[in-house]
Amino acid sequence: MEKYDLKALQSDLRSELVNGLSEESVEMVRELMCRYKSCPKDWDGKETWSDKKYSRTLLDKGNGHYNLMILCWNTSQESPIHNHPNSHCFMKTLKGEVFEELYKNPEMASCDSCSDCKMEKIEDRVYKLNDVAHITDADGLHRVGNKSHVDGAVTLHLYSPPFSSCLKYDDDTGRSTEVPMGFDQDFSEQSCPRSCCVK
Ligand code: SIN
Repeated sequence: MEKYDLKALQSDLRSELVNGLSEESVEMVRELMCRYKSCPKDWDGKETWSDKKYSRTLLDKGNGHYNLMILCWNTSQESPIHNHPNSHCFMKTLKGEVFEELYKNPEMASCDSCSDCKMEKIEDRVYKLNDVAHITDADGLHRVGNKSHVDGAVTLHLYSPPFSSCLKYDDDTGRSTEVPMGFDQDFSEQSCPRSCCVK
C-alpha cells in the first residue's frame, strides 16, 4: 500500500478545503491529520530552531482558505495565551510532546465586576507523537509549549480561515494585545496550486 506521506496529506487537504472549511469538514480534516503518521524526512530542511522563540514555517496557503505550517519548539519554549480569531486551529504532534493549557475566553465571560481578571485555566492537556488537537475560541484560549529541557518538539498546524494577527492575553490581568503572526520561513510558493500534485 502506498505510504500516506505529508505530500499526500497536503493534497487531500487541498481537495477537502477547496471551498473553505465548513462545520461538516472539521471532522474530515481531523481524520486526515490523524491518518498521516509523522515521518521526519517529510519535513527535512523545513525545520528552524531558535533559542529565542519557537519558529513558524509556512508550508501551504491553501488557496487563501487555510494556512498549513510547521512549528519548532526548542526546549522549554511556549506561546503566550492567545486566541484564534474566528478560525479553527488543528494541531498535530510531529516530534516529541507538547502541552496545551486551555483557558476560559474572557470575551465569553459575563464578568462586569472587574476589568482585570487573572486568566482562568480550564484544563491541562498533553499531546504525544501523532496526536491531533482541535480548538476554536468557543472552546477557549490556549497556551502551547514544550516542557522538555532536553528534546525539541515539532508540530503541524492548520488554521482555517487563515489569520495574520491574534490577541495575546496577560496571565494576571486577562488584558489582550494584538500581535502579528509572522513566518520564519515560507515554502508555500513550492506548493502546486492544484490538489493533485502538492510538491
Ligand atoms: C502559533 O500558531 O504561533 C501558536 C500555536 C497555536 O495556536 O496552536
